[in-house]
This record gives sequence, structure tokens and C-alpha cells, in this order.
Amino acid sequence: MELAHSTAELDAQLIAAREQGRKVALVPTMGALHKGHLSLVQRALAEGYFVVVSIFVNPKQFGDEADFGDYPRTLGVDARLLTDAGVDLLFAPGNSDIYPPGVELKQPQAGEIGQKFEGEHRPGHFDGMLLVVNRLFDLVSPSAAYFGEKDFQQLVLVKNMVRQQIQSGEREPLKIVSCETVRDEEGLALSSRNIRIKPEHLAAARSIYRALSAGLAAGSNRERMLEAAKSELDPITRLDYLELIDAESFEVLAEAKPGARLIIAASVGEVRLIDNLVIGDA
Ligand code: PAF
Repeated sequence: MELAHSTAELDAQLIAAREQGRKVALVPTMGALHKGHLSLVQRALAEGYFVVVSIFVNPKQFGDEADFGDYPRTLGVDARLLTDAGVDLLFAPGNSDIYPPGVELKQPQAGEIGQKFEGEHRPGHFDGMLLVVNRLFDLVSPSAAYFGEKDFQQLVLVKNMVRQQIQSGEREPLKIVSCETVRDEEGLALSSRNIRIKPEHLAAARSIYRALSAGLAAGSNRERMLEAAKSELDPITRLDYLELIDAESFEVLAEAKPGARLIIAASVGEVRLIDNLVIGDA
């Protein structure tokens, strides 16, 4: 695996790969890699791309400086995992490569969907996320980019941004590939934040998945689904939201339909977790 710490090093590697006729895929991450990230990488590799993984803890998507400071940083371990996985290039830029001093980057708009749920609870988060993802797309010009469904609202916003850019001729075709959430043996969605869950809070963290599953099992009526889900949540979890939504508009639904999502955000101790499940065909 090659390593690029700057945009100049990145460009050199990308030129060489493209000269060999390779198409490039990007897996954007903030590091502290786990099996969820590796599943994105494996999918991109299996689809034949020259796979670039970026690791950049983006200060602009954290509302809270303490949360940014506490975010796990494990570059050495991450690099070994990516080497073992067979990744072609690790791009681990510095702040000034992503946000060059004196350069004003175009801010993509998160729109109405970006104001809901995560947008409401983490003001500015989606603006920061779209800013960095757009910048990474500009720097790497990938043909495909891989995102996990755990961050479902992020995935939809990135898809919407890219669709608009392609339609307006601002961007070359770019396929956004959504990948299923990877879970531990009891269903807890893998997340870099899980490292910070205290052992005494693990059972509560795992109740989040049980709650979603109970909601899905309760039929299609929103109220009954939310009630069933809440009854499974460990009492020490602090719920930000639990809702049944349309997967495109993020409007609340009174009745579930195939493709809709049951979404949740809740904290256990100091750690805030999000998750969702898709409503299947009845
Ligand atoms: O999902 C993440 O890890 C981040 O939001 C992303 C997409 C890498 C942008 O910083």
C-alpha cells in the first residue's frame, strides 16, 4: 500500500494508477477503522477499483470541540489494517491540504433534509461533512465512493449532492455505493465511537438494536412501532430521536412501507450512537 500525506503525493499516485488504466474508488473515513470500514474496502476491491482510503478527522463536522478532541486517532493501526486488506493507497492529509489557507471552498447545501434529525441535534454537522466529502471528491475524482448505511442521513445527503452536481455538469459521473451496516454478535452497529463505550454501558448500547428490531416486529403502525421500540431501550439510554421516516424525504410516516427506515439516536454515558433499520417487504 502506498501512503500519501499531501495532495501532491496523492496526485502522483492517482496519475500513475490512471496511466495503468485503473478506475479509482474512494472510501472516505475518519480513521479508527473497524470491520464496517473494512467491508466497504473489501467491496470496492472486489469491484476491481484502485482503492483509495482517506483518513481525515474533519474538524468542521464536530459541533463540540471536546467531541473532536476525543475522537479516536489510530493511524498506525489503521494503516496496518488497510495494508492487510490490500488497499492501494492511504490518503492521510493534513488540515491545510483539505482546507488550504486563503482558499474559500464552495459549501454544498444540505437543504431541508439536512435540517432534520441529525441536522437538528448537531447544527453545522452536515455542512462540515458535505464540505469535506465534496473536497475529497474534487481531490480524488473517483468513479465510485463507498458509504455505510449506519449513517443513513449522511448517505442520502451525499447521494443528493452528487446527483445535483452531475445533473448540472459540475461533476463527472460518480457512483455512490451504499453498504449494509456491520454489527457485532448482539447487533450493535459498529462505529469508531464504540471504543469509548464503558463496559458497564455496553448492554444499554446493545439495547438500541433490540429496540429497532422490536419496532420492526410490531407491525406497520408508527405509534405501535415506536412504543415497542421504546419498551426495549435500556432505561439508562438518553434518546435524542426515534422515528419512522420515508427514506428519501425524511418525512415522518404514520404507516410503514417497504424501503422506509426506523431511525434512532441515543446516548449511553458520554457516547452518542445512531442506527437504523430498513422496513422490508411484508
Ligand atoms: O462517516 C464518516 O466517517 C465521515 O462523516 C466522513 C464521510 C468520512 C466525512 O468526514
